[in-house]
Amino acid sequence: MEAIQTIITRRSVNFFDPSFRMQDKEIAELLELAALAPSSYNIQPWEVVVVRSPERKKVLRECAFNQPKVEEASAVLIVIGNTDSVEENLDDVVRDLVEKGYADEKAAEGVKKTAGGFYGLPESERRKIFAAKNAGLFAMNFMLAAEGNGYVTHPMDGFDEAKIKEAFGINTGKVVPMLIAVGRFKDGASLPDRKMRFSPERFARFE
Ligand SMILES: Cc1cc2nc3c(=O)[nH]c(=O)nc-3n(C[C@H](O)[C@H](O)[C@H](O)COP(=O)(O)O)c2cc1C
Repeated sequence: MEAIQTIITRRSVNFFDPSFRMQDKEIAELLELAALAPSSYNIQPWEVVVVRSPERKKVLRECAFNQPKVEEASAVLIVIGNTDSVEENLDDVVRDLVEKGYADEKAAEGVKKTAGGFYGLPESERRKIFAAKNAGLFAMNFMLAAEGNGYVTHPMDGFDEAKIKEAFGINTGKVVPMLIAVGRFKDGASLPDRKMRFSPERFARFE
C-alpha cells in the first residue's frame, strides 16, 4: 500500500527549498534504491552525474534552457544511458548468475553470447534505445525512492544534450534520457491540481 501512496503523491515539483542541501550519503542511498530497478539481462546500463555544487548547477542550468529548478533543487542528476554497458557489465552480471546458481558455466556463456548480440553494436540505434529504456526505469525508481523518503523531484528533458555532454565530460555516444532535480519541498508553496491523465480506455486495449 505504501508503494501505491508514493505513486499517487509523486509530482513534478517546481518549488524547491533553495537553502536545503541533501547530503551526498542521502543521495547515494536513493541511487542504491533506484538501482534495484529491473534491466535487460540485469545489465544495468545507467550512469549518473550528481550535480550539487552551486558552480556546476549554474553550468547545468545553462545547458537546460535556463530552467530555475536546476539551481534551486538540492541536486540534479544527469541520468545517462550507457551504450558501452553490454561490453563493460556483462562479465560481472554473468559471474553473479553462476555464483547464485541461476546458471552453470556453460549456460552463463550462452547468456553472454545471446545478450551480447541482442542489443546491437554500441553505436547502433538499437543500443541507444536499450540504454535509454533501462535508464528510464532507473530514473522512475529514483523518483519514487525520493518521494518515499520525503523528498520531491522533477524530471527534465528540456536541455541541450550535446552541450551537457561537453560540459560534463560524457562520451558523445552515450544517451542522456533526462535530468532529475531532487530536493526538499519549499515551505509555504502549494501545488496546483495534478495534471490530467488519459484513462485506460484511451491508451490500452485488451486482447
Ligand atoms: C522525460 C521527462 C522530461 C520532462 N521534461 C521536463 C522539462 O524539461 N521541464 C519541465 O518543466 N517539465 C518536464 N517534465 C515534467 C512533465 O511535464 C510532467 O511529468 C507532466 O506534466 C506530468 O506531471 P506530474 O509529473 O506532476 O505528474 C518532464 C517529464 C518527463 C517524464
